[in-house]
Amino acid sequence: MQSDIDGYTGEVGYAEYFHRGTAPAWLHFVASGLGRSAPDPSRPYRWCELGCGPGLGAALLAAANPHASFHAVDFNPEHISVGRSWACSAGLSNLSFQQSSFSDLAQMAAGQSEPYDYIVLTGVYAWVSPANQQAIRTFIQRFLAPGGLVYLSYPCFPGMAEMVPVRNLLYEYAQAAQGSASQRAATALAQVRALGHAGAAHLAKYPDLLKALDQLDGRDPAYLLHDLLSEHWQVQHVGQVVRGWESSSCCWLGSAQPADNIDAIALPAQTEVLLADLSVPALRESAKAFASNQTLRHDIYQQVARAARLTSSAHRQALLRQRLHALPMPHDQATDDRAVAAIAQPYFHPVRQALARGAIGYEQCAASSAYAADPGKLNAAFQLLVGSGVAHPLLELAPDPRPAQSLNLALCQAALKGRPIQWLAAPALGSALNTSLAQMAAWMALHEKGSVSATAPIADRAWKAWRRFSATLPVHPTALFTDALANFESEVLPIWLRLGVVSDQRP
Ligand SMILES: C[S@@+](CC[C@H](N)C(=O)[O-])C[C@H]1O[C@@H](n2cnc3c(N)ncnc32)[C@H](O)[C@@H]1O
Repeated sequence: MQSDIDGYTGEVGYAEYFHRGTAPAWLHFVASGLGRSAPDPSRPYRWCELGCGPGLGAALLAAANPHASFHAVDFNPEHISVGRSWACSAGLSNLSFQQSSFSDLAQMAAGQSEPYDYIVLTGVYAWVSPANQQAIRTFIQRFLAPGGLVYLSYPCFPGMAEMVPVRNLLYEYAQAAQGSASQRAATALAQVRALGHAGAAHLAKYPDLLKALDQLDGRDPAYLLHDLLSEHWQVQHVGQVVRGWESSSCCWLGSAQPADNIDAIALPAQTEVLLADLSVPALRESAKAFASNQTLRHDIYQQVARAARLTSSAHRQALLRQRLHALPMPHDQATDDRAVAAIAQPYFHPVRQALARGAIGYEQCAASSAYAADPGKLNAAFQLLVGSGVAHPLLELAPDPRPAQSLNLALCQAALKGRPIQWLAAPALGSALNTSLAQMAAWMALHEKGSVSATAPIADRAWKAWRRFSATLPVHPTALFTDALANFESEVLPIWLRLGVVSDQRP
């Protein structure tokens, strides 16, 4: 068992997640929408994740982008070993893992590694000490390539302000409790909830917080330990983060959540005009966070050396190259209600009708009578379609689908044995798709048959595939599978085939 490092738990491993904003294809699409250049995700590039957890995200991206090179770092040896086992079981030669702390990374001299075009961190920046934050920025300053992008997500003020006393009390209870880290986390949660239900005034004032704590009951304590109980957990002031990164040669480029970049959607209507003239990023982003009571940031930074805006003609060319593909079901954690509401408006009807046929291109849409009058507005529409989770940008060059088949096989096998995994690699997107357990059983049935056109109903075949892996079976499996896979062959499978989630091309 790994001991804690700088107050961050080493005792309990993190859950396996994928975050769509960590994919270069996604970051490049958002940057292009904002009129900025970014490393081309269809060509070879180098990507690095700091604090990678058990490495599922890195493995999905490596499998979906065999033309690029992926490197993932974490201090926890258990995480590194799980990550390496994904790379090994799928034969991913473009993925490496490194067991290092952030302070180890900060000591690497320039030249000890090739620079990275993309560096991503999810959550961890707000959970480590100021010294570790500085170590992260030092590494990035040294090893982010000119014009390279950083994805940085973190909890922020003012939306998270009411969480601060709750987390501080959780922390104190956990410190005082006995037992393993997980037991102490569970005790702390029980005690704070008990106070809440007994009428503690802070939780009475913010009843949604108490509901959120109730929902954590019985959930894997890893979430509490990693996301709330590290010693240095701190909600961040947006302006301070922006300035800190500016002093490390990175400028704020935009949000990886497309709706955040559209003031008419992100801000209360009457505040928009008051913020319109703010041009200093630290001030503007602080004011926007304040006006929208933001809780989480999903920021993109760019290495300053090549952070110029595209000329208007280069911007237009970049937009004209964009192509989106419909997704079979929205990404789970990514569903952005603002974008979902926006794309329900009549303006979106023609583009959504076109999307129902599979892929759409910006060029064709811009030439259509529905959108020819205002191509600039179409840019925002494309961003919102992607932000809402109904569509995803396609890579310009579809990669070899075989590594994704290898990883998807390993993922489906693990999921059918009971591991809570919910993503499959989609190489045409250079990313991963959210999926369900029944769909993973269907994937396995298609794979085992060696053909996507076998004749038995897919629900029966999926059920048989699941039965081969799982000792614990649902009570009414046939009904369960028939319902869960009712639209699979008409709505999901055709998209999976086009995106390379499932393919006849075997490794
Ligand atoms: C919350 S997890 C994020 C995992 C993964 N990126 C994800 O989103 O699923 C943060 C990770 O940072 C790692 N970490 C925390 N402090 C660290 C440090 N000082 N050096 C290296 N890794 C660290 C932890 O082990 C943990 O796996």
